[in-house]
Amino acid sequence: MRNLQSIGMEKGLLYETIITTQDANRKPNAAPIGVICRGVNEVVIYLHEGSQTSRNIKANRRFIVNILKDPLRFVESTLGTPPLNHFDQYRDDFYLKDTDAFFSATVKDIKDIVKKDDLGPSKLSIITAEVDDIKIKRDQVEPLNRAIFAILEALIYLSRMEIADKDTATIYSGKIRDMSRIVSRVGGSEHKKAMNTILEALENRDE
Ligand SMILES: Cc1cc2nc3c(=O)[nH]c(=O)nc-3n(C[C@H](O)[C@H](O)[C@H](O)COP(=O)(O)O)c2cc1C
Repeated sequence: MRNLQSIGMEKGLLYETIITTQDANRKPNAAPIGVICRGVNEVVIYLHEGSQTSRNIKANRRFIVNILKDPLRFVESTLGTPPLNHFDQYRDDFYLKDTDAFFSATVKDIKDIVKKDDLGPSKLSIITAEVDDIKIKRDQVEPLNRAIFAILEALIYLSRMEIADKDTATIYSGKIRDMSRIVSRVGGSEHKKAMNTILEALENRDE
């Protein structure tokens, strides 16, 4: 039996995926959603209240996680719903036709919470789900994790600070700290170690 390791997902990391679901009239929906790998057969997702994805998952207690890197599919499924011919069917579920891999997941637990952040309080559902079938559609499958990109961005800002004036350097320092927050949220231990080294270099520079 395949597990999440077979599609490159590591425990503790958050991956950017596109989740496909359906409503009561079997209308398919797709939306980018971060999926945390909790173990070889368990995932957790945080859903903001009010999205179609949240309504569909609460009603059906099932969803499909599509693993792909196609930028247009991410844009299309954020701004609206992809056209019907972009979906295919696997048993009773819909997945994205040109995905690299996908898996179905069955909800085990739903916890509703209120989270306070810069935008004020917002309602979130924490959904824990068990992974069922994993289907690999292409030779190369690499789930998208943002940590390495955040580290690269931080390094670019750090190296540009050498030639930046004082005000620009302050802006870059803020951007490096933003990248650090992304790494804490989505990265693994190696990413966090790398980011800490960047922060140390930044602090030594500030002194
Ligand atoms: C890369 C990316 C990751 C996202 N992750 C989440 C997430 O983890 N939880 C969530 O509720 N919304 C997330 N969103 C926002 C939803 O995708 C967005 O609100 C979408 O329009 C919801 O569509 P729906 O109403 O069709 O479900 C993410 C968006 C992007 C671009």
